[in-house]
Amino acid sequence: MSNSKLNHPGDGYLAWLQYRRVTPEANVNPYAGYEHIVVAEGDDVVIRSAVNELTQGLEGITGGKVSVSGKTMKTRSVIIGTFGTGSGIDEAFSEEVSSAIQPEGYAIHTDSLTGNITIGAATSQGILYGVFHLLRIMGTGGSVHNLNILENPVNQLRMINQWDNMDGSVERGYAGESIFYENNRITGNLQRIQDYARLLASSGINAIAINNVNVHRVESRLLTEFLPDVVKLAAVLRAYAIKLFLSINYASPIELGGLSSADPLDAGVREWWTAAASEVYAAIPDFGGFLVKADSENRPGPFTYGRDHADGANMLAEALKPHGGIVIWRCFVYNCKQDWRDRTTDRARAAYDHFQPLDGRFMDNVILQVKNGPIDFQVREPVSPLLGAMPHTNQVIEFQIAQEYTGQQRHVCYLVPQWKEILNFDTHLRGEGTTVKRIVDGSVHGNAYSGFAAVSNIGNDTNWTGHLLAQANLFGYGRLAWNPELSAEKMAVEWITLTFGTNELLVQTLLDILMNSWEIYESYTAPLGVGFMVNPDHHYGPNVDGYEYSMWGTYHFADCYGIGVDRTSATGTGYTSQYARMNMECYESLESCPDELLLFFHHVPYTHVLHSGKTVIQHIYDTHFEGAERADGLAAAWKLMKEHVDEQAYRQVADRLAEQVDHAKEWRDRINTYFLRKSGIADQWGRTIY
Ligand code: GCU
Repeated sequence: MSNSKLNHPGDGYLAWLQYRRVTPEANVNPYAGYEHIVVAEGDDVVIRSAVNELTQGLEGITGGKVSVSGKTMKTRSVIIGTFGTGSGIDEAFSEEVSSAIQPEGYAIHTDSLTGNITIGAATSQGILYGVFHLLRIMGTGGSVHNLNILENPVNQLRMINQWDNMDGSVERGYAGESIFYENNRITGNLQRIQDYARLLASSGINAIAINNVNVHRVESRLLTEFLPDVVKLAAVLRAYAIKLFLSINYASPIELGGLSSADPLDAGVREWWTAAASEVYAAIPDFGGFLVKADSENRPGPFTYGRDHADGANMLAEALKPHGGIVIWRCFVYNCKQDWRDRTTDRARAAYDHFQPLDGRFMDNVILQVKNGPIDFQVREPVSPLLGAMPHTNQVIEFQIAQEYTGQQRHVCYLVPQWKEILNFDTHLRGEGTTVKRIVDGSVHGNAYSGFAAVSNIGNDTNWTGHLLAQANLFGYGRLAWNPELSAEKMAVEWITLTFGTNELLVQTLLDILMNSWEIYESYTAPLGVGFMVNPDHHYGPNVDGYEYSMWGTYHFADCYGIGVDRTSATGTGYTSQYARMNMECYESLESCPDELLLFFHHVPYTHVLHSGKTVIQHIYDTHFEGAERADGLAAAWKLMKEHVDEQAYRQVADRLAEQVDHAKEWRDRINTYFLRKSGIADQWGRTIY
């Protein structure tokens, strides 16, 4: 169970699994008496986790001692089990309910006479999710009197990608070192892995790739030499119904196998992968498959051999197919050695240009993983036009929970509202209503595989995410992957209440902080969708020209007249033509292009008037002054919470917010000064710009 050494209530370690008594001040505990668990299937590992969790949860919430047995008789029992096992589960549900439950789904029912709560599912995995649901209700102070719940996940794959390296570092990690590796070995601290698995499963995650997509020499050997330790990780994760995947090095046949090539059409190379996959499955029969970053940012891939991505992915898919495994092939492929003088190449076009023509060529156990936007997890960019544009190919969307470009977990930035906006975007690819969420849940094209993947934001910091409030992003991601219809606000309230309790003032204050945080961060950083403007390499902090004369393809083209990237079909890079007609026309025209994406699609003079009625330059000044001021407001609001929060938790958040306040000013002054100097146009309100 949870690691007691780290388990101070305010240190953040227990995250949203606090299981505390919800309203300690009330005389009557609404859950009193729920101290008996009935379970017949004790030898299944996932059910065992469910029972452990339920025991721990009920003991915390009721304050009583929980017993577990196979007998039903008691009142106020929680009865858990799979359908058709004759354990009293079937009687609680109508045929209609039980037949509507899919493999990972569950039903929860309260008997009004006895108060017994039954959680039924088709699989042990469903039971685990049902248990977490019940504990969520109790943890947020909800009523359990008349429960009649039926839940199935909307998305099939709900995956986390660790960008962890075996030396213990985490690429784009902002919360300490890796919990999976140290000193080029897999960790012996399986307790921490188990505690992470609990967090993931409780929010609905069912898959994880345990190593960075950039697979270097040592990590390549996870497939071979380190496999016995990978087996141990798989066992811990399996108990929480989480499938393990490995990121692989495309050049493994050369680096590990001593072959002279990694050509996907070479018989020897194919045999090498077939044998490698067989060995992995012999050790881990429920292994998920491979995650692959190939021909991207200097990683090896099929291009070296004059082959394309379909050739590369299919070779791996063939090796995994007999075992039921899948290949998740990333579409983050672009020219990272661009000449900044070249105005015709557009990085935003790259994923679509590379992959869309290959539609229909991928095997059915290949999934393409497409980043949510065409560039790279910016605070604002349009939705990737590749999503949904390959009707005969499986796709999952990739988000970044790690806040690489959104404040690196030093600034608060609740990302769920951004993800919601992306998921609700109408691609119009199959007429009105072809939203991204319907594409990624597989219902538009009827794909065999579909879902969500996201880069994790955790490390070995005691509170997992560095910034305590960044836990809301991990929680929200899982909940959203389970059901994209949930509102950002609802998930925030759930997370706040589970983590901090039910004090209304505190809940409202934190809700305001979270719900405004994305907008605030956007307002004092790169304006109007133009992106980047960060320091090279580590990507923290303002640097307007940080990437302007580099090879990475991320430019803003600011001069003394104007700013922005002309991506129109009429006069620019033609990127707009990758969207369905409705969207293409919307972005193409200056009149209809939304303000927040204006500079992503158009190069305009500083005096261009936005829909808001302001000029671009005045908008830049105003948002940057306001943004920094609103950051101040976040810190001030939190200060008022001092007496309502555990001291340690208070301090953690207060320290980060103080840093944000200072840093927002730095952003404000750098951006405003840069544009005042470039444009020569004064701020209408005469505020201080340097
Ligand atoms: C970004 C990030 C890299 C990462 C890459 C990827 O460019 O900065 O660290 O490797 O995305 O998604 O592969």
